[in-house]
Amino acid sequence: MSNYHIKHLEEYYQIYRKSVNDPELFWEEIAEEHFLWRKKWDKVLNWDFRKPEIKWFEGAKLNITENCLDRHLITRGNKTAILFEPNNPEEGALHITYNELYERVCKMANVLKNKGLKKGDRVCLYLPMIPELVVSMLACARIGVVHSVVFAGFSSSALATRINDSDCKLVVTTDGSFRGNKTIDLKGIVDVALKECPSVENVLVVKRIASKIKMHSGRDHWLQPLLDKASAVCEAEIMDAESPLFILYTSGSTGQPKGMLHTTAGYMIYAAYTFKNVFQYKENDIYWCSADIGWITGHSYIAYGPLANGATSVLFEGVPSYPDYGRFWEVVQKHKVTQFYTAPTAIRALAKEDLSYVEKYDLSSLKVLGTVGEPINEEAWHWYDDNVGKNKAPIVDTFFQTENGGIMLTPIPYVTPTKPTYATLPFIGIQPALMDENGNELKGNQVEGRLCIKFPWPSIARSIWGNHERYKNTYFSAFDNKYFTGDGALRDEVGYYRITGRVDDVIIVAGHNLGTAPIEDAINEHPAVAESAIVGYPHEIKGNALYGYITLKSAGEDRNHGNLRKEINQLIAERIGPIAKLEKIQFTEGLPKTRSGKIMRRILRKIAHNESDNLGDISTLLNPEVVARIIDNALIAV
Ligand code: WTA
Repeated sequence: MSNYHIKHLEEYYQIYRKSVNDPELFWEEIAEEHFLWRKKWDKVLNWDFRKPEIKWFEGAKLNITENCLDRHLITRGNKTAILFEPNNPEEGALHITYNELYERVCKMANVLKNKGLKKGDRVCLYLPMIPELVVSMLACARIGVVHSVVFAGFSSSALATRINDSDCKLVVTTDGSFRGNKTIDLKGIVDVALKECPSVENVLVVKRIASKIKMHSGRDHWLQPLLDKASAVCEAEIMDAESPLFILYTSGSTGQPKGMLHTTAGYMIYAAYTFKNVFQYKENDIYWCSADIGWITGHSYIAYGPLANGATSVLFEGVPSYPDYGRFWEVVQKHKVTQFYTAPTAIRALAKEDLSYVEKYDLSSLKVLGTVGEPINEEAWHWYDDNVGKNKAPIVDTFFQTENGGIMLTPIPYVTPTKPTYATLPFIGIQPALMDENGNELKGNQVEGRLCIKFPWPSIARSIWGNHERYKNTYFSAFDNKYFTGDGALRDEVGYYRITGRVDDVIIVAGHNLGTAPIEDAINEHPAVAESAIVGYPHEIKGNALYGYITLKSAGEDRNHGNLRKEINQLIAERIGPIAKLEKIQFTEGLPKTRSGKIMRRILRKIAHNESDNLGDISTLLNPEVVARIIDNALIAV
């Protein structure tokens, strides 16, 4: 018998030991007892981190939508699967039952089939947080098509790069999206992107804001009439355990985003099992994750994890500040939400507002609170604990990455004693290691190093789409025979983990993963810019904000710097999206470089952090003299 549901600390340790001592047996029991298979596996795990190659449940056949939908129809057909809460509360919530979701998915799958899509093809979903996004993901999975959800805040050129990287044949989008009191012209963004995307044959358009848009004849189709005509019966395509399920792009240290490739069986099992335990989900709970489905959190903990457990998952289209700063809490009260999962940046933003926005609402339904995506500072943790959970709902600070597919480090609520700012213990099956810079594992407690994982877990990404070499170099080359997260972490005196932040060129801004390289590439496109370097610095609400050091081509540049700042941020918004705009820009005469010409970001980071009295030895730089000038001018950076 597998222990699917962990109930106390002793049990956690016992199950953890089992999962580490005999991972194959452990995951086999979970797979066997809690999922629906068309054919069982021949081998549970085949792996070699040095190649790297990871295969879970080889030989097994299944369809993930049969696990998320079909098997619930008899017992939970009339239960709400997706509880849609629109941007404007006056529009009213929509309860989509498992029966209804099943029918909508089958119809959508048939529409995709009618447009010629076949197993293995890629579809890009560029959609706001509306039911059609979940329906489209599942419809793809139903027929073996690989979905690539692109966050609807990305710009047209970021969208085009992602569509082209995986040669998507079809795009699903809307006539526009609601965001607070604004609307966004998503279809317009798609139109611009598609000028550079020869692989796209069809665009399906959901009517959401009823705006006038241009439809390209032959290419663009309103979705609803196609759904109306489609059959509600769609046999699930039988997939291999290791068939690609989705691609999800994340930032990297070069301009090209990394299309993390997730496969079917292992991803499903880990997303479902973590969901059940990390949120202690019980049958009649109303679970709400406020993340966007454009990120891994939404994939695993709005869509696949909850649905595989037959849960009710709230899908929220809006923003925390509209119609006012009480919106989150109003939704919790209205739907009697039992688990609420959000990002530290949202908590910090709301904590700045008047407490009456929280106190107005009855939050007594809440049993578990969660955070994800970035470190949570102690103050925000306590604010969340005191005012939202009223010290009764444990906070799970969950650490994971797009590459991981599911939560890696986390307390289990009512099981693991929590500690502010600590993601505490490894989840079942996760074997963390902290490494020093020489590649030695740091044993024992009270150590700090680079966070690696020593053994595969079922939902680890299997590759980077189209670039397995980059997958190897990025994750498996820094430390022999280990997966490297790119994060630093410490282990305290009782063995609890705390993430100390990225140790590479990725900066987490308001919970969004931003690589410095693509932003610098965008800035350098400006005709007046010679070169640039981006670093992160602490920001009260966003956790980190971006600080750009920019050298202009002509030292005597007499342009108005105010305009230049605007133009540079405009360029970044066009190339990547508004989330990547620079908070501060400092124009410099030069950037500190090593003798081999590499920009010394470490120094720039210290200056941005106001730690310029602690720069270390800079005499070996190619141009040490620029450092003093940068420090002097840092005070006037805006
Ligand atoms: C950071 C998000 C501290 C970390 C699910 C990681 C965190 C990156 C936490 C992945 C946390 C995520 N505490 N830092 N609880 N969770 N991070 O791929 O730096 O968008 O490497 O996945 O976010 O971001 P991604």
